[in-house]
Amino acid sequence: MFESLSAAKPDAILALMATFREDPRTDKVDLGVGVYKDGSGNTPVMGAIRKAEAQLHKSQTTKTYVGPAGDAGFNAAMIDLVFGDDVPKDRIRAAQAPGGSGALRILAELLRRARADATTWVSDPTWPNHVPLLGAAGLNLKQYPYFDAASGTVRFDEMIAVLGAAKAGDIVLLHGCCHNPTGANLTAAQWDQVTELVLEKELFPFVDLAYQGFGDGLEQDAAGMRRMAAKVPEMAVAASCSKNFAVYRERTGSAFVLGRSPDEAHIAIGQLLGVARGMYSMPPDHGAALVKLVLQSQELTTEWKDELETMRLRMLSLREGFAEALRRQSNSDRFDFLKHHRGMFSRLGATPEQVEQLRAEHGVYMVGDSRINVAGLPENDLDQLAAAILSVMGSSAS
Ligand code: LMR
Repeated sequence: MFESLSAAKPDAILALMATFREDPRTDKVDLGVGVYKDGSGNTPVMGAIRKAEAQLHKSQTTKTYVGPAGDAGFNAAMIDLVFGDDVPKDRIRAAQAPGGSGALRILAELLRRARADATTWVSDPTWPNHVPLLGAAGLNLKQYPYFDAASGTVRFDEMIAVLGAAKAGDIVLLHGCCHNPTGANLTAAQWDQVTELVLEKELFPFVDLAYQGFGDGLEQDAAGMRRMAAKVPEMAVAASCSKNFAVYRERTGSAFVLGRSPDEAHIAIGQLLGVARGMYSMPPDHGAALVKLVLQSQELTTEWKDELETMRLRMLSLREGFAEALRRQSNSDRFDFLKHHRGMFSRLGATPEQVEQLRAEHGVYMVGDSRINVAGLPENDLDQLAAAILSVMGSSAS
């Protein structure tokens, strides 16, 4: 059987995690996989989640199946968190999913079932796992221009031009906030323009919301997507709790469908649950049970929001401190884009060879496209890190 298989190509992000772990250097710096880290380099369990865990330990009386849609209370709480008040809730249905990736995958399968000949447009670049994940569901993928590396900004006019030429019924994958890997986001006005385009060209928006609360704030990060959801007839949204509730390994996320009518939404969710049943049957419960307890308690919600805000502000101050260190040492503004980006990631603009040199000579780990995880920046050694980066990338203004 297996002799017909060739060795799998390692996943860039997961392989980097493993190489970092094996590196014996004590001064190594992990700017690789997108997990939040505190000032000591740890990814702690949030206080609100710990309390929810203690409550669950006492109150849970059964481990029987939750069913393909997961927990109804979790689904309702997630609809509120993601969509707020301005979107017609009777046209939205939710399914608990194994992480944001699981949500993306079942929604992709649903969209292929619904319209097999559609093209799915993804940003250039996009999260590396989008391509295998959506491709494996059978979606036909093409790229739209998104990021201008030289200026660190969104190539918005080109994006609109390419999407404007897409055929009616095509699917557009958008990052709800905190674009991964670039950190360059659409402005509110640009979200509105994309919404107009989606309506005019009859495109189908598919939004990946993996970092709500990591950019400009919980409400702000969802605002563009919510305004879109209030106007478009149909939409799919995949949301992750991995980052904003720090429950990564619990695999907790939501798949949402917005239908033209409550009846269509009902049909779409039925098909989506059929997809889930055929793939993993039912989602894991633990992470969703914790998130539900947090979101259903005013006290725990307040505590969670405070903790999330602390994480967000820490990432912002790391962005500023690092941009400042690079500005001082290079005597140029070429890395100022780091302060303007939002979320966990930015791309430094180093070549793959320079990325490798940083790893080999300085123990600085980042993804091969020079994506850095801002939360991994060492707050007390930003100058040293800036010096290492400039020694490899060249310190002159360019
Ligand atoms: C990342 O982009 O690093 C995270 O979303 C983790 C992952 O699964 O790749």
